[in-house]
Amino acid sequence: MKSSLHLGAAWFLAALAPILAQQQYNVGVGIADCTGPAGEITFMGYARLEQKGAGIHLRQFSRAFIFDDGESRVVFISVDVAMISYGIRKEVLERLQKKYRKLYNDQNVIISATHTHSAPGGYNQYLFYDISVLGFMSQTFNGLVNGIVRSVDRAHADLSPGYVTWSQGLLLDANINRSPTAYLKNPDEERASYKYDVDKIMTQLKITRLDGTPAGVINWFPVHPTSMNNTNTLVSSDNVGYASVLFEQQMNKDSLIGKGKFVAAFSSTNLGDVSPNIQGPHCLDNGDPCDMYSSTCDGANVLCVASGPGNDIFESTKIIAERLNAKAMELFTSGNNESVSGKIQIVHQYVDMTKQNFTIYDNYTMKNFTVRGCLPAMGYSFAAGTTDGPGAFSFSQGMTSPNDLWNAVRDFIVTPSDDQRRCHRPKPILFPTGEMQYPFPWQPKIVSTSLAMIGNFAIIPVPGEFTTMAGRRLRKTVRDTLTEYNAPPGPVVIAGLSNTYSSYIVTPEEYELQRYEAASTIYGPHTLTIYQRQYKKLAIALMTNTNLRPGRVPADIKEQTVTLLPPVIFDSTPWDKDYGTVVRQPKSVATIGDKVTATFISGHPRNHLLQEESFMTVEKRVQRENTTFWQIVATDANWETKFHWYRTSFLKGMSEARTEWIIPEGTEPGVYRFSHKGHAKLVFGGISSYRGHSRPFQVVTPPKQFSLNRSKRLFYQ
Ligand SMILES: *[C@@H]1O[C@H](CO)[C@@H](O)[C@H](O)[C@H]1NC(C)=O
Ligand SMILES: *[C@@H]1O[C@H](CO)[C@@H](O)[C@H](O)[C@H]1NC(C)=O
Ligand SMILES: *[C@@H]1O[C@H](CO)[C@@H](O)[C@H](O)[C@H]1NC(C)=O
Ligand SMILES: *[C@@H]1O[C@H](CO)[C@@H](O)[C@H](O)[C@H]1NC(C)=O
Ligand SMILES: *[C@@H]1O[C@H](CO)[C@@H](O)[C@H](O)[C@H]1NC(C)=O
Ligand SMILES: *[C@@H]1O[C@H](CO)[C@@H](O)[C@H](O)[C@H]1NC(C)=O
Repeated sequence: MKSSLHLGAAWFLAALAPILAQQQYNVGVGIADCTGPAGEITFMGYARLEQKGAGIHLRQFSRAFIFDDGESRVVFISVDVAMISYGIRKEVLERLQKKYRKLYNDQNVIISATHTHSAPGGYNQYLFYDISVLGFMSQTFNGLVNGIVRSVDRAHADLSPGYVTWSQGLLLDANINRSPTAYLKNPDEERASYKYDVDKIMTQLKITRLDGTPAGVINWFPVHPTSMNNTNTLVSSDNVGYASVLFEQQMNKDSLIGKGKFVAAFSSTNLGDVSPNIQGPHCLDNGDPCDMYSSTCDGANVLCVASGPGNDIFESTKIIAERLNAKAMELFTSGNNESVSGKIQIVHQYVDMTKQNFTIYDNYTMKNFTVRGCLPAMGYSFAAGTTDGPGAFSFSQGMTSPNDLWNAVRDFIVTPSDDQRRCHRPKPILFPTGEMQYPFPWQPKIVSTSLAMIGNFAIIPVPGEFTTMAGRRLRKTVRDTLTEYNAPPGPVVIAGLSNTYSSYIVTPEEYELQRYEAASTIYGPHTLTIYQRQYKKLAIALMTNTNLRPGRVPADIKEQTVTLLPPVIFDSTPWDKDYGTVVRQPKSVATIGDKVTATFISGHPRNHLLQEESFMTVEKRVQRENTTFWQIVATDANWETKFHWYRTSFLKGMSEARTEWIIPEGTEPGVYRFSHKGHAKLVFGGISSYRGHSRPFQVVTPPKQFSLNRSKRLFYQ
């Protein structure tokens, strides 16, 4: 197939000689909307039950990239979601195999979550990750699976010859370490080889078609998408999601968001201890810095919150996104690129972390010691949360002494065995999740591990959140192994939160301090050591072309899951109004920078996800020849719009939707209106769709200011 494409392209070979010197691959990119229910479902990330969805700020997207060298194929997917559960991966693979048979399989598909904390949850099968969302939500689950599969379909249909280049650059003002005291526990010699306590390098892959048209980029830069804090109730892809939107808007000039050809993924990597809130943690009451070790203010963790660089969460999200986007654009346009060449390869293996038990030689103590994977367990500091989103319990980070009240509650659930207490030391166990099977398993024992090579560019998909130093150690292990087996030099990136989710991975030294990330390192102090050995094994298998055993596949427990959130019972409207009726009209004249709003009678947004569509649109009246029509200029996926939904009477099932548009720079003067689309659940059963439009309003150019220049000119005239 590849050679025939070569022949077909031969006629312009001369003109493209420098480009054809690049290694050719078949490449495909695809984007699809995977937004979950826009109301009532608790967001996943901050474990805060009250953080329930009430509309949309930015939509969730799945971005898929296929690389094929004629012999083998790798699919990389980045999804705007907190994490990827094994259940999602399994369902996506089953759906892909129905269409493409063995082409896409357990081996060659990588699904990585961006880790946004502002998207609906309930798609995990393990109880612990659904508890704060009131259980399993099939609507969120199906919405994600449908979107992910659609993005792969589109990338598959898009496959065509192209080439791949990579570049790297330093981005200094977009991330900080949120557990700097834990980082300092790492050996001095090791820290001395790094300038910063978080990684500051953005690594970017660029995909270009044979004719020179850019098709997409994927980049990796560590930062938690937690610029939106735990008070936000609008669905949002946060800083990295908005960076993707910005990049794509620049490339797909006249397309609505999520509808263009060019796809840009800002993917997660070793972001475990990395925060975007770069002004750092301060006490909410008096603005003082918090206690460094416990992240508390006079003993209270809820008061210690990190923020910045903006004045509120929207501004902070925007600033971080703009910095990410500017760096990515710079890498994209600068001639400072290296070409990717070589075979495409990938290995994958499931590993039961709780069955890992081996002896290694410790270079520091010069002794042999036994490494063992513990049954999953969460420590006390987990309940304290982080300075990006403090936990609601009276816990602080760095707790190594147990607390009686919580021991009592925990013992009511299950008491950790002596063996597990020893295994996790010095972590005081709050939830021995590995020993809790009721009503179904709480946390995974089996995780997905894999290693991909796009030529000389290595991608390490990991099943959780590696901290900065844990990530550096893993990259070094893999790079050293590849070099040992004579692989050509090239970058190595960690693809965070891929394929399954098992919380955090810290270094054994960071583990000693038991901050949040360490308390959430669920397989005990040697979790990282086990992964280093496992990924080394994968690298050797890949370099020596050895077939690995697939490993024991996790059990499918989807059928056992429970849901405590009742479905939407019914919707209704005030007697004199219908769905879609406007109860508050927009102001009649507005200008750039103004906020315009309209309020509609609405149904419950859980009645329909409206993927690839929109709950609201801003439309401009366009006159062309003898016809007039309304052209959509913005949807609910645009930064400058917000779609708010709220119940006005819970008992009567009444609700309203408020559409909001902050008129951006560059908006043409003219006549505009809002539309709202939704679905209502009827009392006698069935769901029906409706649509409503606001009164038109006028956007005018801003009144001329009396600027200094202008007044001078007047004076001299
Ligand atoms: C969240 O952000 C809002 C607005 O920026 C701020 O007022 C609030 O204090 C923050 N709360 C927390 C818990 O971070
Ligand atoms: C790579 O850099 C060269 C100049 O060094 C430039 O001509 C070329 O267009 C760049 N390629 C891509 C894909 O950016
Ligand atoms: C670890 O493996 C050794 C031998 O391979 C065995 O004797 C020991 O019981 C194992 N320990 C655990 C905790 O599984
Ligand atoms: C062990 O440490 C010595 C010196 O401290 C060093 O030369 C050697 O490379 C280390 N070995 C390994 C396997 O890390
Ligand atoms: C460590 O174990 C290896 C075999 O696994 C053995 O050859 C070596 O002598 C041991 N070293 C120490 C210091 O016990
Ligand atoms: C528009 O309308 C005018 C008069 O009604 C007519 O003469 C003209 O042909 C129309 N143009 C088009 C493109 O339909």
